[in-house]
Amino acid sequence: MSEKKKLTSASGIPYASNEDSMTVGPRGPILIQDFILHEKMAHFNRERIPERVVHAKGSGAYGTFTVTHDITKYTKAKLFSEIGKQTKTFLRFSTVGGEKGSADSERDPRGFALKFYTEDGNWDLVGNNTPVFFVKDPKKFGDFIHTQKRDPQTNMKSPTMMWDFWSLNPESLHQVLILMSDRGTPFSYRHMDGFGSHTFSFYNDQNERFYVKFHFKTKQGIQNFTNDEAVDMKSQDPDHSQRDLFESIEKGEFPKWTLKVQIMPFDDAKTYHLNPFDLTKVWPHGDYPLIEVGELELNENPDNYYAHVEQAAFAPAHVVDGIYYSPDKMLQGRILSYPDAQRYRLGGNYEQIPVNRCPFMTNNYQRDGLMAVNGNGGSNPNYFPNSFDDIEVDESYKQPAWPMESLMADQYDRNAEGENDHYTQPGNLFRLMDPEAKKNTIANIVGAMGGINGVKKDEIINRQLCHWFRADMSLGLGIAKGLDLNLDQAMEGMVHPDPAHKATNE
Ligand code: HEM
Repeated sequence: MSEKKKLTSASGIPYASNEDSMTVGPRGPILIQDFILHEKMAHFNRERIPERVVHAKGSGAYGTFTVTHDITKYTKAKLFSEIGKQTKTFLRFSTVGGEKGSADSERDPRGFALKFYTEDGNWDLVGNNTPVFFVKDPKKFGDFIHTQKRDPQTNMKSPTMMWDFWSLNPESLHQVLILMSDRGTPFSYRHMDGFGSHTFSFYNDQNERFYVKFHFKTKQGIQNFTNDEAVDMKSQDPDHSQRDLFESIEKGEFPKWTLKVQIMPFDDAKTYHLNPFDLTKVWPHGDYPLIEVGELELNENPDNYYAHVEQAAFAPAHVVDGIYYSPDKMLQGRILSYPDAQRYRLGGNYEQIPVNRCPFMTNNYQRDGLMAVNGNGGSNPNYFPNSFDDIEVDESYKQPAWPMESLMADQYDRNAEGENDHYTQPGNLFRLMDPEAKKNTIANIVGAMGGINGVKKDEIINRQLCHWFRADMSLGLGIAKGLDLNLDQAMEGMVHPDPAHKATNE
């Protein structure tokens, strides 16, 4: 008798023919009773789930985070409790605007979504490879993303939509400048930094709070494609980043990042010259230096892409004891959005999928629903309070109260006064670039803005040019020259009233 495994139906019934359908005689039609044929076709028809509405194309791997420096004076989070402590992680990288089949080397920010499987539950840090973002209010997110997707009529990507939106939202300038530099086309996922991007908060075992930003510095070194190289790679190998990550892990060349944090004392937020919760700004390192915390290593390729990478669900809402949110409006908007998207994409019990499941403990009274596959609580009570089980609320997880005066409630009303300097930080960033990086950035912007067309072409170009000039005179001039614009007209753009300021002040 054969030692091999028997081929079976999904219900485990062995069957004899996997290739020939059951017919009425050798030349006759197919019999409807061929249940296996029906099962195979029906399952195939259901193979697709909605792709992520953003960040649809991605790559992922498991890894280990190891603490190398003591930060217990800032946070009581157990994963940071002692030097040498290790925590299992899962990291999913992604591009943002393209569909699941799009090319990895597109000019786009890259997602850097990291799940730490801690003993206090899963902590998800869902960031990008840039420390800032295009908008600072979640109300604008859907509109912004529409401009990165396809035109409703032509079904094509539209530089006109993109630059129209960016030029009307000058708060985008910082992120757009990074996107248009060669950092917009990283060589691979291994050769870029990752950022938590938002301001989060820490609290320690004395219940003292701090604000914190997370930075993951690549140990492989930053490496970017030039625009031409990125365009070439799209046709040569659209899955270049997936291949690079998968193969390096298979070879045992495990990619590593150093985790560093910036810490802002809680009370500084009230007086710091920038709104520290504005996602379009960085905290200059001179003010808040990087403090080393630990090392992240990716060391295990998932054995099945769909099971682990496609079904992974990250949520900025998932923070663990010792780590909390901040008043960053974008972060606040994201808290409810992700689990909502995942209930739609993966179903209400998506936390039971192995990549999302907390390996340590989940005790609650949530029951039933589509695909309740974890035993559904067995015979345990399904209500709280009850007299039968020993599940209790643990008061030691109570957070320190959030002092209201820290929120400056009289000032941070919608868009606070004095927050419309969208130009200083992008200008400083451009001035920091070496001549080669400046040249490439200008050429990339000229190439990208060259795609603007239609009846509003001149209006959009002038409005955007005005923002570039405001950031840095030589940047504006370089772009105007590259676009073959009349210099007098271009300079005039600088003194045009800026309608977008009105929009962001509302
Ligand atoms: C994915 C919404 C801002 C990084 C997603 C998804 C949604 C979403 C609905 C798909 C989730 C899923 O189906 O699993 C939003 C909203 C935002 C926002 C409403 C602003 C209000 C940001 C920002 C960052 C970011 C500021 C980075 C700093 C990511 C990443 C993913 C993602 C990395 C992919 C996660 C993965 O690999 O599964 N976002 N997003 N998003 N978002 Fe955002």
